Amino acid sequence: MQKKKITLITSALPYANGPIHIGHLVEYIQTDIFVRFLKLTGKNAVYCCADDTHGAPIEINAQKQGTTPEKFIKRWYREHTKDFSDYNINFDSYYSTHSPENKYYTELIFNRLKKKDFIYKKDMELTYCKNCKRFLPDRYVKGKCPKCSAEDQYGDVCEKCNATYSPVDLIEPYCSVCKNPPVRKVSSHYFFKLSAFSEKLEKWLKTNKRLQPEIRNQILNWIKEGLQDWCISRDKPYFGFKIPGETDKYFYVWLDAPIGYIASTANYCRGRKCKADNIWQTNEHEIIHFIGKDIIYFHLLFWPAVLMAADFKVPDNLVVHGFLTVNGEKMSKSRGTFLTAKEFLDYVDPKFLRYYYASSLTHTMTDIDLDLKNLQEKVNNELVANIANFIYRVLSFLNKNFNGKITKIHNKHLIKDILEKCGIAKNEFENYNFREAVKIILEISSLGNKYFQDSEPWVLRKTDAEKTQAVLTDCVNIVKTLAIMLKPVIPDFSEKIEKQLNLKDLSWADLNKILENHKIGKSEIILRKIEEIKLKAPAEKAVREKDDDFSKLNLKVAEIYDVSEHLKADKLYIINIKIGKEKRQLVAGLRPYYKKEDLKGKKIVVVTNLKHADFRGKKSEGMLLAAKENNKIGLLTAPASKHGDRVFIKGIRPGNEVIDFKEFSKIRIKVKLGRVVYKDRILRTEKEEITAERVKQGIVL
Ligand code: MSP
Ligand code: ZN
Repeated sequence: MQKKKITLITSALPYANGPIHIGHLVEYIQTDIFVRFLKLTGKNAVYCCADDTHGAPIEINAQKQGTTPEKFIKRWYREHTKDFSDYNINFDSYYSTHSPENKYYTELIFNRLKKKDFIYKKDMELTYCKNCKRFLPDRYVKGKCPKCSAEDQYGDVCEKCNATYSPVDLIEPYCSVCKNPPVRKVSSHYFFKLSAFSEKLEKWLKTNKRLQPEIRNQILNWIKEGLQDWCISRDKPYFGFKIPGETDKYFYVWLDAPIGYIASTANYCRGRKCKADNIWQTNEHEIIHFIGKDIIYFHLLFWPAVLMAADFKVPDNLVVHGFLTVNGEKMSKSRGTFLTAKEFLDYVDPKFLRYYYASSLTHTMTDIDLDLKNLQEKVNNELVANIANFIYRVLSFLNKNFNGKITKIHNKHLIKDILEKCGIAKNEFENYNFREAVKIILEISSLGNKYFQDSEPWVLRKTDAEKTQAVLTDCVNIVKTLAIMLKPVIPDFSEKIEKQLNLKDLSWADLNKILENHKIGKSEIILRKIEEIKLKAPAEKAVREKDDDFSKLNLKVAEIYDVSEHLKADKLYIINIKIGKEKRQLVAGLRPYYKKEDLKGKKIVVVTNLKHADFRGKKSEGMLLAAKENNKIGLLTAPASKHGDRVFIKGIRPGNEVIDFKEFSKIRIKVKLGRVVYKDRILRTEKEEITAERVKQGIVL
């Protein structure tokens, strides 16, 4: 049986020693987009990753928290996998380096290296803390820099003068855990003969045409300067795998971490028709690593050399990205820009970050800047005003005028032009140039908008319905194209378009299939514009409440400017409101409780993202909130605020997606002692707390 070639794709394994932050997400989102793209085009891509669980910092931090390293890494595993799923990062295997498979492969590789004489033992003089009873790794011994005498420098590099040295050279060294001065102590360690691989590595770098040239040159320079053999063992106490035949020595975390890629592959293959050994030890498949620029030494020297030495396959490609800055500067805790993945959920929908990163990513090591103003603009102008708006205009027009039915396409030229653009975008995706791919998607959407506008279907319809329907058929085909092309970037958005198109599981191949004589589904607005993102001061960061249903709501202050009776229902009013620049109509059952003239000019609270409804022939575009106590009904109001102002609970971000009444009715807002609360937290605008008229104790409906 001819098995389909696997493209194994990995991201670097995050340390199980802290949360995933928005810097990490550059990499996981980049990789996820690429994997989704490959799968969309029919490739057999497999995305493997894992937590990197070993090393001294993890052992020390677990101890500090009074727990075992095993429990400590389990906690981070839970958090990491939750973060990844929140951002729609879809691993085929997310494993752990603290696994039997990883132990097996680490020992296998170590034994092969030993057998082939690429390992030797040597005595070293190291810093040792008698008080903590441990050898101090570089980061755990501090002192004055031996070159410039700057105080409080780490054991490996001076942050003042950039000198590099070994911990034993530090002046007046001290243990960073207990502050006592360490002593020198000799210990015997294992070394890998990296120097023996200079030529092989050089050849691999020069013949591998897929590597980024900037990376290739940098690594070739390092080789030219001469490679040092690599120490691959650590003394106890350590959290890791014990070296076979030793009682108190462990494999250095950076030896078993990349082997974790193999272990995660094995985890994926368990119960499937593939074998990690086949993927990693033959040339039948393809391996691509995505990494950040800080770990290229490990991935383009140590790792391929170890693989070569152990008769494994070397990676076919390594894609190296730059670092994230926020508003032009390095992420910083004191500026409040060191944001965890979880914290960032407080500000925007995760798909907006995916979109933003996609529109910034190229195949270079250039740093990426998260400019929050720019993110808002991109979402509002590109995703909402260009793409989502086009889709809604087309689909709602079709539903309204042609019962959702398309016929035959009209403008073959346009469809062909767009198909050509898809071809270019495919190329850009394949070459990791997501920025250009996104640009092309926007061009297609602009073309669609222009075509719709220029064709004036709302006029044409009166004279030539048949042609109008054909024009709309063209437009629906463009909508379908957008849904497909956006899939790798914002899959949940595409899924909603698919549903509105009444289609399923579209793939890249469907770009070539023209959709005709089809009936679409219901059309609804999918995205709305977002407000300016204001980062919280670091001290007052609120707990995240993404999972809270309240965050589905988008509440605003609205001003009533006109009221009339609904002619077909004796309890209903038709209420006209202003929300900022927008005007809307609501239908509400207030006639038994409020006189018309009392309602006019009132500033009320409206759910703006509720699915529009029809009440006996009158449209209601949202819902006003009122409280109920026994037989009394009173409106929620915000008299001192302006219409258009946000109504919110501190720390819960508003929703952008349309919700239906059922979802709304699960969210229980109450009035307690005259205050409007949700789970005992107060609803307010920037200026005031929300008031409930007439009601002191009750529920909001
Ligand atoms: N555990 C190692 C990798 C072992 S791979 C066998 C490690 N972990 S990490 O958590 O520090 O980083 C994981 C990945 O995230 C790395 O590729 C790193 O470059 C990337 N990033 C970490 N911080 C980043 C930014 N601020 N910006 C962009 N990428 C960043 O290194
Ligand atoms: Zn100490």
